[in-house]
Amino acid sequence: MDFIVDVAELLKGADSVAVLTGAGISAESGVGTFRDASGIWNKLDPSKWATEEGFRSSPSMVWEWYQDRRKIIKDASPNKAHYSLVSLEKLGKKVTISTQNIDNLHQQAGSKNVLELHGNIFRNKCIECGKPYAKEIMNDELCKCEFCGGIIRPDVVWYGEQLPQDVWQMSEQAAIDSSIYLVIGTSGAVYPAAGLAILAKRAGSTVVIINTEPTELDDYADFVIREKAGIAMPEITARIR
Ligand code: OAD
Repeated sequence: MDFIVDVAELLKGADSVAVLTGAGISAESGVGTFRDASGIWNKLDPSKWATEEGFRSSPSMVWEWYQDRRKIIKDASPNKAHYSLVSLEKLGKKVTISTQNIDNLHQQAGSKNVLELHGNIFRNKCIECGKPYAKEIMNDELCKCEFCGGIIRPDVVWYGEQLPQDVWQMSEQAAIDSSIYLVIGTSGAVYPAAGLAILAKRAGSTVVIINTEPTELDDYADFVIREKAGIAMPEITARIR
């Protein structure tokens, strides 16, 4: 595999590593991606399934779909790529992961600094007042907010919505402070998240892309490793001792 040795050498000398992950890092855990040939957005229109307008016009339909995704994600386990990021941390590196994933798999693997850019599918909130809904919801029925009666929605970021500002600012800072910026399993098609890799590059970080396919961020990369994350990441971390 090209560049595995080079990237391992760079990581050996780096103390601050920032990471941007996307659906591809969880693909080997059985969680679907969005823009691959079999991706979710090739079958479903995101304006219906991932916007507030879509939810308001067909709340039951969208809620049930999120419940199905929750079940798939609940049954999924972290894979070798998730665990490799944990082992980087255990080697004494400061590792900050900004993830576009809502699946909780980085945290489940044991990563300490995870910034969720697009929320978390296991959390819910009121569509009207925004208050968190703490109870676990197991059924497919819509729930109502105990404070204002609004419909409960998943606490994920939909198209047209702002990213959580604290998470965003910490992600920007991590990109700026990093000496290496790993971009794993994302097409780089969605902003502002994809912009973090460009920010890191402009701030002088070495940008490494790990992806099975070309991405929209390849022009900003110092190294592109064209391989599954679950294969490339353990190969890299095994060389850092
Ligand atoms: P995409 O589906 O756009 O991209 C997934 C990327 O992972 C593609 O570039 C694949 O080539 C790559 N990939 C697939 N399997 C892989 C593997 N085993 N190892 C490494 N790479 C692999 O998903 P994201 O970039 O995460 O947002 O999409 C960004 C956002 O768009 C998502 O967070 C979601 C979606 O709409 C919202 O829902 C707000």
